[in-house]
Amino acid sequence: MTADAAQRYTAVAVALHWVMAAAFLLMLTSGLSMTYLDIDKSLKFNLYQWHKSLGVLLLAAFVLRIGWRLFHKPPALPAFMPRLEALAAKAGHIALYVCMIAVPLSGWAMVSSSVYGLPTIVFGWFEWPHIPKIAGNEAVNTAAKNAHWLLAWFFGLCIAGHIAAVIKHAVIDKHNLMPRMWFSGARCKKGETP
Ligand code: HEM
Ligand code: HEM
Repeated sequence: MTADAAQRYTAVAVALHWVMAAAFLLMLTSGLSMTYLDIDKSLKFNLYQWHKSLGVLLLAAFVLRIGWRLFHKPPALPAFMPRLEALAAKAGHIALYVCMIAVPLSGWAMVSSSVYGLPTIVFGWFEWPHIPKIAGNEAVNTAAKNAHWLLAWFFGLCIAGHIAAVIKHAVIDKHNLMPRMWFSGARCKKGETP
């Protein structure tokens, strides 16, 4: 492996990062639109179905991603990063992983405990089961609904911080981290240590 390749995530990790990043951004947008926009009832219903469908698929994608992450060491953080910043980056990444599982799990618990008992038909393709034994449980439903709301907003904040950090490193520190999360390409300016 070349030194440059060693400073990048694996191709599988890169593919999972970008596909899931796009999907989570769509989830935040659809969740906010269906909750706060004054839109046609049938469009709202379809948006709920779409949100639930992509959401449960992301639960499955998370299992794949965390599995891959546990067996593939990520590249070491760049040496230029002060200790505190490196710690913040690690804490931020952990918070993102926690949100990636906790937000869809709370959504799943919410629909499973709803008194309406509406099924989740994944893109009209197959039925995703409800979590057993909580159907119609109002205490669970309220807790899950509050958790989903709170965690989704926290997730949005973590993503905004994550993107701001990448921009800060590129603009202020003059270290472009993007090639670390891409399939190929140079890292910092030629001759610089990472
Ligand atoms: C859309 C804009 C985004 C950009 C520009 C971006 C960029 C990056 C970059 C450059 C890295 C590598 C950091 C490094 O080690 O140098 C990274 C890592 C990471 N990103 Fe993003 N990202 C974006 C969105 C997201 C979203 C939406 C999520 C949440 C699902 C996310 C989750 C993560 C995680 C968890 C890591 C750490 C991976 C690990 O070390 O295990 N990113 N991102
Ligand atoms: C995968 C990540 C997910 C993200 C980022 C996400 C995001 C959101 C957001 C931002 C809202 C609006 C919250 C508010 O401000 O009130 C929302 C609402 C909602 N989400 Fe999700 N969601 C995800 C997964 C799921 C899943 C897996 C389900 C169910 C299977 C689900 C079901 C719902 C429902 C039913 C609502 C409406 C809640 C209400 O009526 O108050 N979500 N989601």
